[in-house]
Amino acid sequence: MTDTESPRAASPIVQARNVCRSLGGREILRGVSLEVQAGEVVVLVGPSGAGKTTLLRTMNGLETIDDGELIVAGQPVGYRIGRDGRRSPASRTALMRQRQEIGFVFQHFNLFPHMTAIENIWHAPVRVRGVDKREALAQAEALLARVGLADKADARPNKLSGGQQQRVAIARALAMKPQLMLFDEPTSALDPEMIGEVLDVMKELAADHMTMVVVTHEMGFAREVADRVVVMDAGAIIEVAPPARLFASPQHPRTQTFLSKIL
Ligand SMILES: Nc1ncnc2c1ncn2[C@@H]1O[C@H](COP(=O)(O)OP(=O)(O)O)[C@@H](O)[C@H]1O
Ligand SMILES: [Mg+2]
Repeated sequence: MTDTESPRAASPIVQARNVCRSLGGREILRGVSLEVQAGEVVVLVGPSGAGKTTLLRTMNGLETIDDGELIVAGQPVGYRIGRDGRRSPASRTALMRQRQEIGFVFQHFNLFPHMTAIENIWHAPVRVRGVDKREALAQAEALLARVGLADKADARPNKLSGGQQQRVAIARALAMKPQLMLFDEPTSALDPEMIGEVLDVMKELAADHMTMVVVTHEMGFAREVADRVVVMDAGAIIEVAPPARLFASPQHPRTQTFLSKIL
């Protein structure tokens, strides 16, 4: 077993092998390899500019890769391999279909401002998945209850606090029944008193065995919930370890520097 492989067996939800991506003439991802198993929670950390957001964006096809292999939920993301072994861009339809399997929660909640909380949640299942509206509505109500917002169904985003908006955003992503949830600093835009309520929802998701890749600076969350912590620096993974081991004895000097700044 190598560092980048998960200790769990079974089928990986994410298989990244030597993923490279350049942007604006600079190499942003320099050969990233990582496997995430079903039900696993991976916390991704590293200094600003390390490439964390770019890596998450490649995983759901918001960013294409230049080289390497990236398989999510059994399909290459954003490209396909022809019979001759050549790579070509995936069709828009294929990409859309694949994105439905992957939930993305952003730092800034990105709810539709003209829709109520519950409309934000049932909209995509009905419009994109073709779910029956009554069924989608019932599911949206259940999801709102799950994130502790049963009483906010008819509120527009501007009537909700940041923490409440982020919880609606999580419920909205879950409504598509994704195989993988990606979180990009989901609490960094929140006032401190609202961070806990969002992390609590994420902890419950983890307890329900949702497969999650979470970029966060909340090391308490990492310690409590992560199966593995992945440290990125300058476009590469420099260290992977279970949280207890990583925090107790980081191996890479740049991990030590990074942790000493944020712990
Ligand atoms: N579209 C882009 N064009 C050029 N450079 C980019 C683009 N997106 C990100 N970058 C650069 O890539 C590096 C990694 O960015 P990012 O993935 O956002 O890092 P992180 O999320 O770890 O802070 C940064 O130096 C950033 O400026
Ligand atoms: Mg980022």
